[in-house]
Amino acid sequence: MAAPREAAARAEALRAEIGKHNYAYYVLDAPTVPDAEYDRLFRELQEIEAAYPALRTADSPTQRVGGRPLPEFAPVRHAVPMLSIRTETDSGPEGARAFDARARRALGLAEGAPSLEYAAELKFDGLAVSLRYEDGVLAQAATRGDGEIGEDVTQNVRTIHCIPLGLKGEPPALLEIRGEVFMRRPDFERYNARQRERGRPALVNPRNGAAGSIRQLDPKIAAERPLSFFAYGVGEARGWAMPASHSAILDALAAFGVPVCEHRAVAQGAEGLIAFHEKMLAQRDALPFDIDGVVYKVNALDLQERLGFATREPRWAVAHKYPAQEELTEVLGIEIQVGRTGKLTPVARLKPVFVGGVTVTNATLHNEDEVRRKDVRIGDTVIVRRAGDVIPEVFAVVKERRTENVENGRQWSLADAVGNECPVCHSAIERLEDEADWRCTAGLYCPAQRKQAILHFASRRALDIEGIGEKLVDQLVDQNLVETVADLYDPTRINAGKLAGLERMGGKSAQNIVDAIAESSKAAQLERLIYALGIRNVGEATAKELARHFGTMTALMAADAETLQLVPDIGPVVAASIIDFFNEKHNQQVVEKLLEHIRLEAVGKMAAGAVLRGLTFVLTGTLPTLAREAAAALIEAAGGKVSGSVSKKTDYVVAGTDAGSKLDKAQALGVRIIDEAGLRELLQAKETER
Ligand code: IVH
Repeated sequence: MAAPREAAARAEALRAEIGKHNYAYYVLDAPTVPDAEYDRLFRELQEIEAAYPALRTADSPTQRVGGRPLPEFAPVRHAVPMLSIRTETDSGPEGARAFDARARRALGLAEGAPSLEYAAELKFDGLAVSLRYEDGVLAQAATRGDGEIGEDVTQNVRTIHCIPLGLKGEPPALLEIRGEVFMRRPDFERYNARQRERGRPALVNPRNGAAGSIRQLDPKIAAERPLSFFAYGVGEARGWAMPASHSAILDALAAFGVPVCEHRAVAQGAEGLIAFHEKMLAQRDALPFDIDGVVYKVNALDLQERLGFATREPRWAVAHKYPAQEELTEVLGIEIQVGRTGKLTPVARLKPVFVGGVTVTNATLHNEDEVRRKDVRIGDTVIVRRAGDVIPEVFAVVKERRTENVENGRQWSLADAVGNECPVCHSAIERLEDEADWRCTAGLYCPAQRKQAILHFASRRALDIEGIGEKLVDQLVDQNLVETVADLYDPTRINAGKLAGLERMGGKSAQNIVDAIAESSKAAQLERLIYALGIRNVGEATAKELARHFGTMTALMAADAETLQLVPDIGPVVAASIIDFFNEKHNQQVVEKLLEHIRLEAVGKMAAGAVLRGLTFVLTGTLPTLAREAAAALIEAAGGKVSGSVSKKTDYVVAGTDAGSKLDKAQALGVRIIDEAGLRELLQAKETER
């Protein structure tokens, strides 16, 4: 049946609108409508297309998913071969200089001739694909294959949301867009987390994730994988006034609505390339996707033509690498480290390997479950990954390289590895239900925990005691000079004479440390002291809220779980951590001793007056002695809020004579109603509660 004219028009309008929202969401990363509205539009289009299948166009957004699994991929011959580019392996500035020198020489440029102009862009780490648009509609997508013949992966590529099914503006009769399909790191993490939750295999890394997804015969599987795309060039084109430079081509592609990475530049000469290389290296770890280098291309197309090709590689382009973030090495052992809160962390001791710009000898294995999941064994060859400041980690085991010598046998167990005791203090260890970590139960009696606790106490955001570093703390604890953080303030234990006797410590630095400790005891902030104690789950923000709410350490120590949960953002878990900490006799003694030595900064009004914090009041009618403003000021000074209207969120209505509709509403909603005397009592009662 032919579709009525209105249905056809509506379908077209919907396609255009959904396409626009898709572009805003997936390409510009700036959503224009709420998800629910998008879903409504999408469903409406689906319904029209179901009623009139003739209206279902190839570029309809409903056509992204849904093909059947293929028996195999059909071969696709590339009209313009998909070549690869030469790699400059020197990851320093020489790599850029060498390329610039080669290009200049090949063009016969004299030494004094002006610098060449380049397009500089990122080298994305995924899979190359070619997208063929006929009259602006995505007609075919192919992998690179051997460069001449690739595979038809149209069904899978259609599921990539940021790839437009139709080009914007006035596209040419034929345009082949080339670029990289890849997976963003946050998408990769999220996907893997979900897979693990469901007990399904995780992806090894984002690159394998991208390549593996595109080569799935079942498009439903590909559709589940969150892929992205950036264009970096064109292949065959017909009916197009091709721009004269590579950078202008990319601008044109972006104008067609195709994703083009914003991190690109037009660079002048070798120095311009070096500047780009360095700038992007500095930003590498902050990018939401992996890159393994940058790519330079001679910008002017006529020069590219003059340069031509050397065997299979263009002379006008080069990839300039960055140091790899993943390397292979061997696991020499698995050790267990004890952290500040007693957490036992398995750490792989590795054959030294240069990765991410540094030599790595240890890499975290996170926890017991991770070791089991990755099945890491001593003697294994593993992929070590170090991306930026992130702690190096054992990413995966190369199972194919596992030899017979590798320790065989049972699932790795942390408890077995440490003989069921803390490797530092030999106390019992435990792993609570619902927790991934094993812990040493000895608390601050454990020297490892004590060392970490002291370092934390002295750290910049805690009591900020300059000069207290790892080497010093090791000695202080190992020689029993300091058993608890309170001992730092005990002059019989810590004095210039004793410190000067330690390794690497002169008289002057010893005195500096004594002075720094003394300095930290004058006018310390309560919130910093609370944070410095290193209570589990109490970070800086929580410490600040606690200080504000309770005003004194004594009040905090006396608080029960219910009272603690009156503090903003404190739930049962954090409350329990605080209670557990102060229930420990030893911790109480340490805190009491600290309070003897440390003078706290006078607590401001804010904290002292915050007894009504979190409570909302509504005033109505005439109060016997307080003017309305005065009552409001009292409430606000005590941290409460005064609102003009009664709702379910109102905690108290303070009613005087001639109270009107607000009183009725309060009664109807069951809000507590008090008078002026009641308000005063509340202020008092709350005061003594502290
Ligand atoms: S240009 C003729 N630009 O790296 C030049 N390639 O061997 C064709 N790649 O397989 C490639 N980012 O998949 C170019 N900005 C970029 C790139 C890039 C990643 C990949 C591409 C190709 C390999 C180069």
